[in-house]
Amino acid sequence: MPQDSISRRNFMLGLGASGLLAPASSAAMAQEAGALQTAATAGETEVQIADRARRLAWWREAKFGMFIHWGLYSVIGHQEWVMESEGIPIPQYEILAKHFTPKPGAAREWARLARRAGQKYMVLTTKHHEGFCLWDTRLTDYCAAKQGPQRDLVREFVEAARAEGLRVGFYYSLMDWHHPDGIRCETDPEARTRFVAYTHGLIRELMTNYGKIDILWYDVDKPLTAEQWESERMNKMVFELQPDIIVNNRNGLPGDFSTPEHKIEAAARAWETCDTMNLGWGYQKNDTEWKTPKRIVNDLTTCAQQGGNYLLNIGPMADGSVPEESVRVLERVGAWLDVNGKAIYGTDGGASVSFGNYDNFTRRGNTLYVHVYFWPAAMPAAQWLSFYQPQSVVAVGGVQAKILSARILKTGQPLQFTQNNISLRLTGLPATPPDDPVTVLAVECDAPPVVDHHSIRPEWQRFKVGVTS
Ligand code: GLC
Repeated sequence: MPQDSISRRNFMLGLGASGLLAPASSAAMAQEAGALQTAATAGETEVQIADRARRLAWWREAKFGMFIHWGLYSVIGHQEWVMESEGIPIPQYEILAKHFTPKPGAAREWARLARRAGQKYMVLTTKHHEGFCLWDTRLTDYCAAKQGPQRDLVREFVEAARAEGLRVGFYYSLMDWHHPDGIRCETDPEARTRFVAYTHGLIRELMTNYGKIDILWYDVDKPLTAEQWESERMNKMVFELQPDIIVNNRNGLPGDFSTPEHKIEAAARAWETCDTMNLGWGYQKNDTEWKTPKRIVNDLTTCAQQGGNYLLNIGPMADGSVPEESVRVLERVGAWLDVNGKAIYGTDGGASVSFGNYDNFTRRGNTLYVHVYFWPAAMPAAQWLSFYQPQSVVAVGGVQAKILSARILKTGQPLQFTQNNISLRLTGLPATPPDDPVTVLAVECDAPPVVDHHSIRPEWQRFKVGVTS
């Protein structure tokens, strides 16, 4: 089992991959400047832009969702691409449909887990690239209701999510390896007409038969162009059937939000990073490369810092059970959010245009949240540098607001502070971190705070340059 205590080097590598250590992107700065809606909405009317903001409002508040990759591939346990990556003949692969027999109540378990983890919405793979539909469709027999499960697994999912007060999202893969027209459609116009009608028909069912759906999460639009998929007509149908829904950008159109995958990359529009807890999306039995709770808390925080969402995947086994390590890690993250949710949900984004070496930042209104992931240690340097006295100082360079008070979010313990035009120093901290895996300090300011340590370069008094005597 992986340890939560990870070496600084590995952790920093992780943060580097997550973008935390990268200098603020120009996109994040554009967002900071208030250009949030404009870039991806060129050509839209003011009414459309306002409607998008309305539809996105709950999602921006929610920040954290659960992605679920589950399908026939889960029976094999070699991830969701197994059919193609191992070249399994279709008649062989189809046999799985008879042996995919999930236990009752699986979706309830996921929904309860999502709630415990502090996730506010769930997105299920209703049909992945393998082409098997998890719902009761009239358009193919290759679906859960007519094969092994003999149940509408999408309906169970929708009911489970709603029972836990969670929003409901459908992932839908346009690419289809199983349907006879799925690849033929690229070159044969008649196959294309049939396959586009099939695709629109399946989406229509999903948008009609399950009440209010909150997210439609398209995936892989190969082998057709947006024009060939008739993606504009597709989205129009979706919005007619579900006027409050939000759609992503993977049917060849920009949609309402962008979907950076396995990386945190702010955009000057709504965006959501999707990522896995180990290496794969679909169940992979021997994949033990689990991210730690600390890494996940940090990635969630980095998304919130830059104004985005975080969609974190589980890959249940064929019977619907969630791998134990996913449960353990999600519960830890949820326990942290129980205490520190204020520093994540509904935060404003744009807290920081630079990065800390042991901390991360979010903000809401005039409150700055300093997320300390490496607790400042006692150090020999403290005996010579008054900057580090009293012992245990959290120092933040370039806070662009006046500090009024500070406290530890978990305990409410007030902190002392000093601030000048280059640095904020928070002191009165306990010797060991009061929270795990990350301790949040809540700092009240006189204006919406921004951390920008680049800003202090002109402020530093530089002296003693050259040789004295
Ligand atoms: C990629 C993969 C797919 C996965 C998705 C999640 O598109 O093809 O397997 O479902 O990413 O974002």
